Amino acid sequence: MNKIAVKNYPMVNPTPVVIIGAMVNGQANYTTIGAFGVVCMEPVFYISLKSTHHSTMGIKESGYFSINLPSADMVQKTDYAGMVSGKSTNKSSLFTTVFEEQGEVPLIEEAPMNYICKVIQTTTVHGFEVFFGEIVSTYAKEECLTEGTIDPLKVNPLLLMGMQYYNLKQPVGGVFKEGLALKKNLDIPDTANPHLM
Ligand SMILES: Cc1cc2nc3c(=O)[nH]c(=O)nc-3n(C[C@H](O)[C@H](O)[C@H](O)COP(=O)(O)O)c2cc1C
Repeated sequence: MNKIAVKNYPMVNPTPVVIIGAMVNGQANYTTIGAFGVVCMEPVFYISLKSTHHSTMGIKESGYFSINLPSADMVQKTDYAGMVSGKSTNKSSLFTTVFEEQGEVPLIEEAPMNYICKVIQTTTVHGFEVFFGEIVSTYAKEECLTEGTIDPLKVNPLLLMGMQYYNLKQPVGGVFKEGLALKKNLDIPDTANPHLM
């Protein structure tokens, strides 16, 4: 392969930054993470939190957490929530906290999107608790919808790659649409290509 071997460092994929909300000792706490994602076709997210984080304790105790998707203009507070620990700093008033009826889970009013998740499985990897959370509820600001569907450009998520934050620029193609022209020309039966699912 005509490439340069670089350090085995996982922080290379652009990923949305999210803020995890959890109740810890009766108080809302917010923790910024990049280690978050989709697991399967069912409504389940994973989040990976250092075992010693303040929020980790709260999630273990309550079995619930919120995922709050900040917009790119929330970069300063989002970064701050990832710099200080709730163990020594009260982060409960950093954002406007709201509660919905499903469980005692703090949600960030300012965030364009919020998810309430119920922990269904946990595993530990190298000192991190990986929580798998079933989505109980999803909320989006009305102004982030276009014809009833979540519009990524209106959500304006904050992305992370390496040590830099980014925002979205413009759409470049539709999922299951852009490949169609190639598919017509290049389709090979699955049996001839074991790498295709
Ligand atoms: C951009 C960014 C991404 C982060 N990603 C993670 C992560 O994926 N997992 C994690 O455990 N900590 C992550 N952190 C660090 C925690 O947010 C930080 O240690 C925080 O102070 C822990 O807060 P807590 O003790 O109140 O829970 C990240 C911080 C920043 C700024």
